[in-house]
Amino acid sequence: MDSTLIVTGGAGFIGSHVVRRLVCRYPEYRIVNVDKLTYAGNAENLADVEDCPNYVFEKTDITDAEGVRTIFDRYRPDGVIHLAAESHVDRSISHPDDFIMTNIVGTATLLNAALACWKDRFEGKRFYHVSTDEVYGSLGKEGSFTETTAYAPRSPYSASKAASDHLVRAYGHTFGLPVVLSNCSNNYGPCQFPEKLIPLAINNIKNNRPVPVYGKGENVRDWLYVLDHAQAIDLIYHRGGNGETYNIGGNNEWSNIEVIRLLCRIMDRKLQRAEGASEQLVAFVKDRAGHDLRYAIDSSKLQREMGWKPSLEFEEGLEKTVDWYLANEAWLQHVVSGEYQQYYKNQYENR
Ligand code: NAD
Ligand code: TYD
Repeated sequence: MDSTLIVTGGAGFIGSHVVRRLVCRYPEYRIVNVDKLTYAGNAENLADVEDCPNYVFEKTDITDAEGVRTIFDRYRPDGVIHLAAESHVDRSISHPDDFIMTNIVGTATLLNAALACWKDRFEGKRFYHVSTDEVYGSLGKEGSFTETTAYAPRSPYSASKAASDHLVRAYGHTFGLPVVLSNCSNNYGPCQFPEKLIPLAINNIKNNRPVPVYGKGENVRDWLYVLDHAQAIDLIYHRGGNGETYNIGGNNEWSNIEVIRLLCRIMDRKLQRAEGASEQLVAFVKDRAGHDLRYAIDSSKLQREMGWKPSLEFEEGLEKTVDWYLANEAWLQHVVSGEYQQYYKNQYENR
């Protein structure tokens, strides 16, 4: 193998698309997926690549310093793409400690392991930290986040991601660790855990259950199809400048209620329901505490430097996403019932 790459959080939503892309596009790379398999990690997401000769799975908690060091010693990686995180804002409001541990302590643990493994011989090495636009805080009606926007996180999730971004930059600045970062807007697409807005709404509409819309549904997000994010990560890992940050976004702002209405129209058509039937399920509920009003990303640096741009219009991406969830009833059932956690045991522990 030419190169060994550790991907953390590879069994999660975005991580699984990144791992699949790297395993399939770069047979000369060994891809080591390091994931604890929390409730959000699903080994089934990678069932199609798990037997590839250049793919390895390591079930490890990134806050376990000894476990992480053992993995670095065993594989001597050339690069790290760090996606493992607690990622759901609502959970960060009810259980902030998990976010502080995984997102901050876990990132520090990986940085320490990379430093110790590479021992100042940084030539050809790279630590890529995947982050979120939520670190920049909340926008009013105008403007968008650039790479130089001051950090102003407002939820335990975004504050823990901001802390991890600062640590990564500090290790780059102080120790010379070759780091690169990206901050991306909201992703959607196949394999997203159905606690996030779009898959939750698809699942509820399908089952004729209420679709909870926080507050008045006026909050705005910039949505990006997950495969476009995976492509951007591949580009930035290979071509990004040392110490640089790249914003990634869909240039695709929608209020939550507009997203839900569009989804309802698509679902009516797919499920052959009367026009307007799914929209009857919309239920306005109590707002999220500290709910950020609007996120919008200026990704012109990435577009200019690497020619990247989103490949899909939102309507098309949403339709593909609905098709995927409707065609993968078993995946959804396993996730909703918790059965997916058995998959790892059958696949890896009972072998
Ligand atoms: P996810 O919650 O779907 O997956 C997270 C993965 O990390 C899971 O497989 C989980 O098992 C693993 N994990 C969690 N804690 C761990 C630990 N202590 N040790 C090892 N593994 C652990 O998240 P996602 O939506 O795929 O997000 C991936 C990354 O991208 C995160 O860093 C997130 O902040 C960032 N991001 C997400 C979005 C989005 O819209 N989902 C947007 C921008 C950035
Ligand atoms: P989410 O998918 O949780 O992503 P984030 O909070 O990281 O942006 O939520 C997207 C938007 O949808 C956010 O403004 C909160 C809102 N939302 C609802 O209105 N209802 C829901 O059931 C969920 C999960 C989110």
